[in-house]
Amino acid sequence: MTRSWAEPWKIKMVEPLSMTTRDQREDAIRDAGYNTFLLRSDDVYIDLLTDSGTSAMSDRQWSALMLGDEAYAGARSFYKLVEAVSDVYGYEELIPTHQGRGAEHILSQLLIGPGDVVPGNMYFTTTRYHQEHAGGTFVDVIIDEAHDPSSMHPFKGNIDLDKLAAVVDEHGADRIAYVSFETNVNMAGGQPASLANIKDVYAYCSERDIPVMLDATRAVENAYFIQQREAGHENSSIADILLEITKHSDGATVSSKKDNLVNIGGFLAVRDPELARRARAMLVAFEGLHTYGGMAGRDMEALAEGIREMVATDDHVRSRVGQVGYLGEALVKYGVPVVTPIGGHGVFLDAAAILPHLPQEAFPAQALAAAIYVDSGVRGMERGIVSAGRDPETGDHHVPKLELVRLTIPRRVYTQSHMDVVAESVIEVYDHAEDIQGLEFTYEPPELRFFQARFQPIS
Ligand code: F0G
Repeated sequence: MTRSWAEPWKIKMVEPLSMTTRDQREDAIRDAGYNTFLLRSDDVYIDLLTDSGTSAMSDRQWSALMLGDEAYAGARSFYKLVEAVSDVYGYEELIPTHQGRGAEHILSQLLIGPGDVVPGNMYFTTTRYHQEHAGGTFVDVIIDEAHDPSSMHPFKGNIDLDKLAAVVDEHGADRIAYVSFETNVNMAGGQPASLANIKDVYAYCSERDIPVMLDATRAVENAYFIQQREAGHENSSIADILLEITKHSDGATVSSKKDNLVNIGGFLAVRDPELARRARAMLVAFEGLHTYGGMAGRDMEALAEGIREMVATDDHVRSRVGQVGYLGEALVKYGVPVVTPIGGHGVFLDAAAILPHLPQEAFPAQALAAAIYVDSGVRGMERGIVSAGRDPETGDHHVPKLELVRLTIPRRVYTQSHMDVVAESVIEVYDHAEDIQGLEFTYEPPELRFFQARFQPIS
């Protein structure tokens, strides 16, 4: 018999949720311009907008907050964080930032020059934004299977080495700023890269002096899939696999709001002291002094504790990914089209397959996220053509192959019964999907438009 993924913690404090009526939710989504980012959280019952900054901290993390050293320079809490990053990720040089995009900003400005190319495995919104903002061009070199929601490839986050080599051959190694390698690729559905692929990419790049920079935001979840799926790693601990991953890179940006179990924070970590020196020079201009960057002393204390907790036992990540799988399996069982295999941080609904009557220009995923909210107060997020934005050169929509609604599970926050409520609501909406109308923009921001765009139903 298989054994349950049940949580290795119990609940000590609760936060009441607001319950709303369908009429209230219809008003709320209209007022929010059919964009779930613009809803007030008071109008949301189960909030699956993101797993970012939404984790529940442990009692140890809450007590760590009280130990925060708020010295402007040389705070004790900073050195604790340096030690935690060094022990758990294996990088010696730490540049603390206010969150992931702060680290992306600094890295992109330092390594990318106008006309440079940045190959990567799919893209993340803020990551690509900073790469383009620095004058680079992002080129997607993820394997084809990543763009196929129903492919059962176990490592859909892998980089296609032939695609990478073609980009390097076309532009020359010296025009490649770095390879941007995301672990557990968010936009692909939380899909991992294999350790073999990470090693191959690093070997290929090292021979050509091309740096490999990880987006290690969800590297722990990636490590879990390596342990479960990649031959030879079934007996390794998550902590050891994580160090094996980072060993094959020159540095990483991390949004600590995910794996690291805190509500705010992030960092850039590198091996090269000279690159770190340049990064610190930027840090003091854009974030804060080099021993706190974008964080308060107490935030660094809680983060150091979170980094250690996330790998202290394998039970944590097993139950975290297990809960995501539980929701995913419930939907698969009913026949709701979702990205498979179920990813590490959320269940991604295939809006293109659920709403075949809507063309992609009618924003099916945006409309589906709004419909699920109206049904139950469950809030998900569009991850399709709206998130992909426009090509800065031509002004045309980027047209991603994936048109998804992401139901992202916060860590240590919701219970199995919440997951049941979510599954029931998605199934209800799926059964009446033909009633869902398409949307059109009433306001389209020029940058990262998905955050603040407003829509109305197409009349
Ligand atoms: N990289 C990845 C893979 C991310 O998922 C995120 C954020 C970032 C970088 C940026 O980090 O938010 O701390 O500045 N993802 C959030 C999400 C916003 O909802 O997926 P940040």
